Amino acid sequence: MKAIEVKLDYVDKKVLSGYDAMIERVESSHQTLLNRSGKGNDFLGWVDLPKSIESEIARIEAVGNRLKKSADVLLVIGIGGSYLGAKAAIEGLNNYFGHSGMAIVFAGHQMSAAYMEELYEYLENKNFAINVISKSGTTTEPAIAFRKFKHLLEAKYGKAEAAKRIVATTDEKRGALRKLADQEGYDSFVIADDIGGRYSVFSPVGLLPIYCAGHDIRELVKGSFDTYHQLHEAKDTDALYRYVAARNLLYEDGKYVEMFVNYEPKLHYVAEWWKQLFGESEGKKHRGIFVASAAFTTDLHSLGQYLQDGKRIMFESVIDIVEPLSDVSISRDEENLDGLNYLAGKTIDTVNKKAMLATLLAHYEGGTSSILIQLKKLDAYHLGSLLYFYEVACAVSGYVLGVNPFDQPGVEAYKKNMFALLEKPGFEAETKAIYKKIGK
Ligand code: PA5
Repeated sequence: MKAIEVKLDYVDKKVLSGYDAMIERVESSHQTLLNRSGKGNDFLGWVDLPKSIESEIARIEAVGNRLKKSADVLLVIGIGGSYLGAKAAIEGLNNYFGHSGMAIVFAGHQMSAAYMEELYEYLENKNFAINVISKSGTTTEPAIAFRKFKHLLEAKYGKAEAAKRIVATTDEKRGALRKLADQEGYDSFVIADDIGGRYSVFSPVGLLPIYCAGHDIRELVKGSFDTYHQLHEAKDTDALYRYVAARNLLYEDGKYVEMFVNYEPKLHYVAEWWKQLFGESEGKKHRGIFVASAAFTTDLHSLGQYLQDGKRIMFESVIDIVEPLSDVSISRDEENLDGLNYLAGKTIDTVNKKAMLATLLAHYEGGTSSILIQLKKLDAYHLGSLLYFYEVACAVSGYVLGVNPFDQPGVEAYKKNMFALLEKPGFEAETKAIYKKIGK
């Protein structure tokens, strides 16, 4: 089989009656992306990253090797697109109960004081280094976390040694982080102007932490490159067009929620990454599919009831990992008190796949459509294919929807209020206005 295949057997046939017309819209949106003639076309650097990153890989590995030699733990500081790609790939590829490279911990992706305090205590006794990632170099959450852990690093190792243990990934010229990196002499990587955060996993933003975690970034990038070639050059677009067409047809049929479903919990953060990618790209002008996720069979014992029988507002896109990386067989028991001997000799993956088929059929019959996305394997190569496939699907889908998939104007509203409430210099008028609004 190909790295990724998409099946529509469990999608409402009535909805699929509009398929041919929708495919034309999808095809033309794909062309718009390739011609660079659509909205946000100054943010298309990610499209060619699978090719253009090649020349940077050796340096990413060299810096990663230096970090690996000097420290056991890498603290990755970033939020949104500046952490989710790395987190998704690392969790997707790591052994559940161990890791082959550095231990990777994250900060700056939320503002929990308890998290920060407990992470501080954990790092105090660890030999650690920092990769701080912020394209703008001014985002509040990672900036606060970086200040805190930079001080810890300097207290532990002294300023000069601390500087050697910090790598900054940021804009080439702008932002406070760039200034800091240049002044303190940190090693740094540049996030190109035309690559937005959520499309940056194949840049140093994602690749350095993934490499430090002990994963083969060359295979990851190769997977993305082969998918690039397949979709844009060989024009083998069946899987892509099926996914984009089906989700837009379902949306136009009033199914406003897409549930990313996995049967392999290693994909939990791939789902989080996917939610950011699609949510931030499509949710505009009061349009867009709301993206949610579930892990089966776990969530069949919670959300399963709603999906089977609740309000018909959603559809599922189900990831099926066709070849498990390992499998375990169920043993025979002499006494068979639990009555499970009918499964003896069968494997856990067989049972998992029967659960998937059973659920696809049950949900379909209950009126919930599922798009089935088959991924050949969960290794670095195939994960690279999957992440790139979703990036292209998201951009094309955004164009079908008629929005700019590369900006995020809505994110600014909360930031403006937060700066006003924190009385940030430069926000005096906003502070006055917000205090009046809340009666302070
Ligand atoms: O996808 C995006 O553009 C955002 O999620 C950003 O990655 C996020 O807001 C972090 O921004 P920055 O890297 O500038 O700190």
